[in-house]
Amino acid sequence: MLTGINKTYLLGDVKVPALTDINLVILPNRFTVLSGPSGSGKTTLLNLIGCIDRPDAGRLMVGGKPVHQLDDDHLSDFRGEHLGFVFQNFNLLPVLTAAENVEYPLILAGMAESERRSRVQALLLAVGLADHAHKRPGQLSGGQRQRVAIARALARRPQLVLADEPTANLDSKTGNEIIALMRDMQQQQGVAFIFSSHDPKLLDAADDAVHIHDGRITGIERRLAWNGGEAA
Ligand SMILES: Nc1ncnc2c1ncn2[C@@H]1O[C@H](COP(=O)(O)OP(=O)(O)O)[C@@H](O)[C@H]1O
Ligand SMILES: [Mg+2]
Repeated sequence: MLTGINKTYLLGDVKVPALTDINLVILPNRFTVLSGPSGSGKTTLLNLIGCIDRPDAGRLMVGGKPVHQLDDDHLSDFRGEHLGFVFQNFNLLPVLTAAENVEYPLILAGMAESERRSRVQALLLAVGLADHAHKRPGQLSGGQRQRVAIARALARRPQLVLADEPTANLDSKTGNEIIALMRDMQQQQGVAFIFSSHDPKLLDAADDAVHIHDGRITGIERRLAWNGGEAA
């Protein structure tokens, strides 16, 4: 939940307002799209919700936790435990296989090897890559790389996965397949997903659509009725 969020970048002496008075509730267990043209503030907003960056003003609750009050160490622990990330450029480690890329956050989290292996196997199966577990990113197509990244984002069973323009480097057919996979994973794993896109064609895929323009939210469409419960 974001209340009265503002964010300004400093370019030399010039202040660039990136977000102005953002008030927003991202609902749990839903598929949300953040839609707006290039430069509208999508990445800035996702970086704030993802606890990668901090707002200048306002309150930010993620999973019921007031993350704007956390120091850097606690913020980074919170991020690892509760959030997953998918990027436009996939951001896989090129020297690791698909399976090792998914396993990596589980090693950092200290999960036992046998548990890790079965989690990785289940996730690669879920994203349709069971037969590609031992390939490196360089041996995979863009769509397959993004599937690995989605499996990795889900590895630690986050509450919320943030995907910044996850289809921008993919052709439209592959992009649609990736959005459909994220939707499947969102439902199967019982997690909230928020993805950003400048492509209005992807709006229909989501339960909720948040429209942003020039750093301000210009509309929030809830397509599915909400039955109550806490915000993510
Ligand atoms: N690191 C930065 N320094 C200065 N200005 C920035 C920085 N990052 C983004 N901006 C500016 O903030 C605004 C929002 O950018 P961004 O969040 O990247 O939008 P989007 O992801 O929708 O393209 C733009 O005007 C952009 O130029
Ligand atoms: Mg962006």
